[in-house]
Amino acid sequence: MSGFSAEWLALREPVDHRSRNLALQAQVIQYLEQIKSVVPGAIHITDLGSGTGSNLRALAPYIGVKQSWTLVDYDSDLLRSARASLIAWADSVVSADEGKSKLIASGLIHPLTITKNSKTIAIEFQCADLVHDYQTILNKPADLITAAAFFDLVAESWLTEFCAALTKPLYTVLTYDGKETWGPPNALDADVLRAFHAHQSTDKGFGAAVGPSGAHYLQSLLQTQGFTTVCAPSPWIMDVHNQALIEQLAIGTARAVREMGAIADAAVNQWEYSRRNAMQCEIGHVDLFAYRA
Ligand SMILES: C[S@@+](CC[C@H](N)C(=O)[O-])C[C@H]1O[C@@H](n2cnc3c(N)ncnc32)[C@H](O)[C@@H]1O
Repeated sequence: MSGFSAEWLALREPVDHRSRNLALQAQVIQYLEQIKSVVPGAIHITDLGSGTGSNLRALAPYIGVKQSWTLVDYDSDLLRSARASLIAWADSVVSADEGKSKLIASGLIHPLTITKNSKTIAIEFQCADLVHDYQTILNKPADLITAAAFFDLVAESWLTEFCAALTKPLYTVLTYDGKETWGPPNALDADVLRAFHAHQSTDKGFGAAVGPSGAHYLQSLLQTQGFTTVCAPSPWIMDVHNQALIEQLAIGTARAVREMGAIADAAVNQWEYSRRNAMQCEIGHVDLFAYRA
């Protein structure tokens, strides 16, 4: 268990999808149309910290007719949810060959081939801890490495080594950038945000996390490694129509702030109470595409 529930990921998925920067995504799609795949016959994509497969569902309908995805996560429950969600999302299931893969290893999450929007999408599920296993994952042939809502969790030292090891183009979306606006304003907003940022920078398994600085670090490290980078904003812009997500965000933020202990619990409770019914909420994110020109 990673601490990210399938329910939370499902709640954020529609807002994640509509928030992705479409101009940058168009650039990635155009890039994929122009390249010759490393393994002829299909575009190969490796998605890091895939959760239940939201990033695939956002991108796959718009790229090549034959695709091969590897979804990587250390939470096997989320990967099993990914498999089930992708079967439910597909127009058809071409193969879900459980018999063959039973020979390979117990605990394996069986690969899948589906169709969606006239695309044929082969999907493998790889349960791996990216803290240690990123090099092996990066060595696998791929035309593109992707990630969504992942790079704010990692540590600066890990990110430095990851960027030095990266040889393939990277498209990462929805990295939290620390900007938040809640409406109407609350006197505690600034203090809560400061405490929340402090919590975002605690260890999420990789060492002290880069948190809101993730996109900035990633861009500058990739540039140092000779990548051309393009960044674009992808904020969640929410109103009363996103009440369920706003409410869970308020609950999660208040829980994180309480853990930091810098603000009296009574004050955090009051903030949470007002924010669960906020009329507006904007949460800043950044999308990034890095490639070698
Ligand atoms: C915020 S969720 C995003 C999930 C998914 N990309 C999405 O957009 O819905 C972060 C994901 O990173 C995964 N993750 C966190 N630490 C990891 C690690 N050390 N190795 C592999 N996956 C990890 C979590 O299990 C979770 O699925």
